[in-house]
Order: sequence, then C-alpha cells, then structure tokens
Amino acid sequence: MSESTAKISIIMGSDSDLPTMEKAIAICEEFEVECEIEIVSAHRTPEYMVTYAKQAHHRGIKVIIAGAGGAAHLPGMVAALTPLPVIGVPVATRHLQGLDSLYSIVQMPRGIPVATVAIGNAQNAGLLAVQILATHNVELQQSVEQYRQNLSQSVRDKQERLNELGYRDYLAQM
Ligand code: RP5
Repeated sequence: MSESTAKISIIMGSDSDLPTMEKAIAICEEFEVECEIEIVSAHRTPEYMVTYAKQAHHRGIKVIIAGAGGAAHLPGMVAALTPLPVIGVPVATRHLQGLDSLYSIVQMPRGIPVATVAIGNAQNAGLLAVQILATHNVELQQSVEQYRQNLSQSVRDKQERLNELGYRDYLAQM
C-alpha cells in the first residue's frame, strides 16, 4: 500500500454500504478534504483489513470512518489495529433496521473506543472527521464555523417562511 495524500479514510464492509457512506464522502468534498474510499470486509477480506488498518497511519491517514451492517465488526476490529480515531457508522439492515449494526458498533468494551454516530448518519461521521482534522487547521475550523452558521440561517429562513405561509400552506409545499 502506497503513501496517501488523503487525510480521511472511508471504509465499508460492502459496496451495498456505499449509498449510506456516500454522505460522508459528500461532506469531505464540501470541505475540500481529500478522502480515500475502500471496501474492506472484516469477514470476507480479513487479512486485507488487518494490513489496511495497521498501515493507515503510516500512509498519512488521520481519521478512519468505518461503516458496516449486521454483525458489524469492521469498525471495532479496525479500531483495535490502529492508533487513529475510528468513527463507526451503523448501516441500516433489512431485518433489524440497523439496530444490530448499532449495538455491534457502539457497545465496544473498554480500552478500544469507536465514536459511533446514529444509524445511517454518515453525514455526521464526515463532519466529526473534518472537525478532528480542524483541531490542527485554522482554515478548516473556520469552514466548520461557517457550516454551523449556514445551518442556523437555514432554520431562521424556515421560520420566516412558516410565518409567511402559515402552517397549512407550509405543510402543503413540503
Ligand atoms: C456487512 O454485511 C456489510 O457492511 C453490509 O452492510 C452487510 C451486507 O453485505 P452484502 O451482503 O450486501 O455484501 O459486511
């Protein structure tokens, strides 16, 4: 595995996780932070997972976002193999709606943390990864602040529109 210019690694257990993990990729793009995207399966490519996780920090990666569904052991296993912070994304599943993924990822025994976001919320995983990088990057921190201001503004805009339209018309245009 070669040196990487990416600072954030976004890994997932299967290509079927990509529609969920896409939201983390979109955040990296929005903040202009390079990320690398890999399918790394804890049970289908276990040896590759070990190599990937052990080498990530030597290659220049600073944060790993790991998404998985079902008996989702990828984030925890990777966290056990790397000194980097790992953010886990529980991917929603058909039979248990992602509760299985959530419990598998969030219930890490003490000593090896995985910062777990809500089921399917890869957007927050992307934001948290960017915020971690921003602790050592003033420009990126300013972008995070601007993002928050935009969020607040969007709520104020909605309130203004609600006042203008009244709740019935507002609901009708939703
Ligand atoms: C996990 O199994 C993956 O993270 C995925 O969420 C789930 C199902 O994988 P596929 O059968 O769709 O490849 O390893």
